[in-house]
Amino acid sequence: MALIEGFRVQNYRALRDVTLGKLSTQQGGEPLTPFTVVIGKNGSGKSTLFDAFGFVADCLSTDVETACDAKQRGGFERMRSLGVTDPIHFEIYYREAKGERPITYELVIDIDNSGRPYVQSEFLGQRRKGQRFGRPYPFLRLTRGIGTAWAGDAAIEGEGDEEPNTKMAVELTDLRQLGIATLGTLKEHPRIKRFRDFLKGWFLSYFHPDAARSMPSAGAQRHLNSHGDNIGNVVQYMEREHKERFQSILDRIASKIPGIRSIKTDVTLDKRVLLQFNDGAFDDPFYAGQMSDGTLKIFAYLLLMEDPDPPPFICIEEPENGLYHRLLDSLAHELRRHATGRKNAPQIFVTTHQPYFVDALSADEVWILEKGSDGYSTVRRVSDMEIVKNLVAEGLPLGGLWYSDYLDAR
Ligand SMILES: Nc1ncnc2c1ncn2[C@@H]1O[C@H](COP(=O)(O)OP(=O)(O)OP(=O)(O)O)[C@@H](O)[C@H]1O
Ligand SMILES: [Mg+2]
Repeated sequence: MALIEGFRVQNYRALRDVTLGKLSTQQGGEPLTPFTVVIGKNGSGKSTLFDAFGFVADCLSTDVETACDAKQRGGFERMRSLGVTDPIHFEIYYREAKGERPITYELVIDIDNSGRPYVQSEFLGQRRKGQRFGRPYPFLRLTRGIGTAWAGDAAIEGEGDEEPNTKMAVELTDLRQLGIATLGTLKEHPRIKRFRDFLKGWFLSYFHPDAARSMPSAGAQRHLNSHGDNIGNVVQYMEREHKERFQSILDRIASKIPGIRSIKTDVTLDKRVLLQFNDGAFDDPFYAGQMSDGTLKIFAYLLLMEDPDPPPFICIEEPENGLYHRLLDSLAHELRRHATGRKNAPQIFVTTHQPYFVDALSADEVWILEKGSDGYSTVRRVSDMEIVKNLVAEGLPLGGLWYSDYLDAR
């Protein structure tokens, strides 16, 4: 399974320079775990970190100007860390699968003299076989849209028995578009395409229960969308494509939602699929439109986890909102199980405020963001805090330690 081992953000709002995990230039760090959770006080930068992933994904799916001008971001000048004139910089350190050599992607975004954001530079590269240190070798290197791409599938130019890769000059016509977006559609750049596909597959959950209550038009859809308003279409797809498995999936989901005895489906005359929730107290079922926010939310998460072909990377912000506290422990276990269980398991990244959720986690899965006196945030892995490590080894749950202020900087 693909794994982001490290992520660095520079000059993005309160994240002046924050690294989680391991990078090509910071090999001392331990890689991120398949299930990673970020905690922190109000204003410490959790939503900003979540949005940093969202911003990179949006730069690919739209372009950097559109991504900067998205409603919640308000344009480049508001996104850049205050007091800084350097560009915004992201670095992703990632492995396509266990045992594969890590890939580094760097993206630098700046504004031109007229205030328009553009891609200042982009780098995608990988180490040579056996190379443990030093800078990775590029497959793509662009500055202001001009540079070089190395076509072919061999990791490095002329490596091993494979055909030498062809070096080609590249000049992009639109500096707002990512080079990987343009070159990743070309057959001669399979490595760029694989990275682009990975990034395109990221799933950032902006689930809202009301969206899940809407009656979608008929039509099966394979994957849940980020707002969750196509839940009915996904159910329709699952029922059609995985008929035998589907009822057992619904039974499994029902057993995890308190007060729900069973979940079934009903098809309307115009072939829309309706979800029926039975709570055991009444003979008549409830439909999605009548269900509580928390029930729909947990249903959406569990359905997302049951996707036979899940997104490679899933980000969820504060999944606890609206959920009963006793449910949080099992939700955390469920997310971890899905992040580690199977070959194509997704990597799952979560931000939370909830000690009950954190109780279910191990110290290497949890990162704490803190805002410094200079207004910029720092991040630490909880397993790097000696005292916490010892207390966890004695069997104290992590959420409880957080609640008792053991995770705060002292
Ligand atoms: N351009 C900027 N430069 C520096 N700091 C900024 C910038 N824009 C916003 N901030 C600060 O970033 C901080 C982090 O906000 P963020 O929304 O990420 O916090 P959070 O951890 O999600 O908080 P909450 O738990 O309340 O949701 C805020 O305190 C805000 O003042
Ligand atoms: Mg927030």
